[in-house]
Amino acid sequence: MELDRVNVHYGAHHAVRDASMVVRRNQITAMIGPSGCGKSTVLRSLNRMNDLVNGARVTGGVTYRGQDIYAPNVDPIQVRRHIGMVFQKANPFPKSIFDNVAYGLRINGMTDNLADRVEQALRGAALWDEVKDNLKKSGLALSGGQQQRLCIARTIAVEPDVVLMDEPCSALDPIATVKVEELMHELAQTYTIVIVTHNMQQAARVSKYTAFFSADLDEAGERYGHLVEFDDTAKIFSSPSDQRTEDYITGRFG
Ligand SMILES: Nc1ncnc2c1ncn2[C@@H]1O[C@H](COP(=O)(O)OP(=O)(O)OP(=O)(O)O)[C@@H](O)[C@H]1O
Ligand SMILES: [Mg+2]
Repeated sequence: MELDRVNVHYGAHHAVRDASMVVRRNQITAMIGPSGCGKSTVLRSLNRMNDLVNGARVTGGVTYRGQDIYAPNVDPIQVRRHIGMVFQKANPFPKSIFDNVAYGLRINGMTDNLADRVEQALRGAALWDEVKDNLKKSGLALSGGQQQRLCIARTIAVEPDVVLMDEPCSALDPIATVKVEELMHELAQTYTIVIVTHNMQQAARVSKYTAFFSADLDEAGERYGHLVEFDDTAKIFSSPSDQRTEDYITGRFG
């Protein structure tokens, strides 16, 4: 995917200015930066999730495999099938484990071999062994870490290309976090992953590329988010080009 000078407004507030970066296929790209710098906003612009936010307006170019995902003839529902999302707080539906995973498959008419598809998605999310004898149990009865993996299974069930994750581990304990991080490495063999994280060690551990965002005040004193630096994760964390990145990763700021 490619972002070319993406700008996002919420009503009159110009929240993100001129963010340009690339998301490489089958790699994990991390987005880091202080609170309010626009990470979630930019992430949501990658699958038209901001369409669902009142007053949000995205301008600039977002292309997926060379195609403008904001072009008038593009169906946002189709965009979200190819570019799925996992949220910060696990949000299983009040349905059985099976029906949670089958949900998107049914909506998208992918109901041939439904049970196989559900099993594959649960295996892909490293949850199958823990739930295979209890598929009728409510998704809400699982632990937090299991619920997040259930949501990952629900997302990958419809076979997206890109999986967007907004702080997927922030509500998890260290053991569940390690599980989800290991899972990310496995998923990256099949999917392209973009993860927003506040945890810099996590960004350094899991990602190949990192985008560092920051928030600044404009001439009128209005706060806006922007992309400071995008590079190989190894470079961002060892010898960043921008002093602001250096200050952030060394903990002098944010
Ligand atoms: N739904 C919304 N309506 C209005 N303004 C919003 C909305 N979501 C975000 N904003 C504004 O856009 C700016 C960027 O917010 P965003 O949530 O993208 O930041 P973030 O980097 O994800 O922060 P955090 O690390 O706290 O999650 C902020 O000024 C925020 O107030
Ligand atoms: Mg956020």
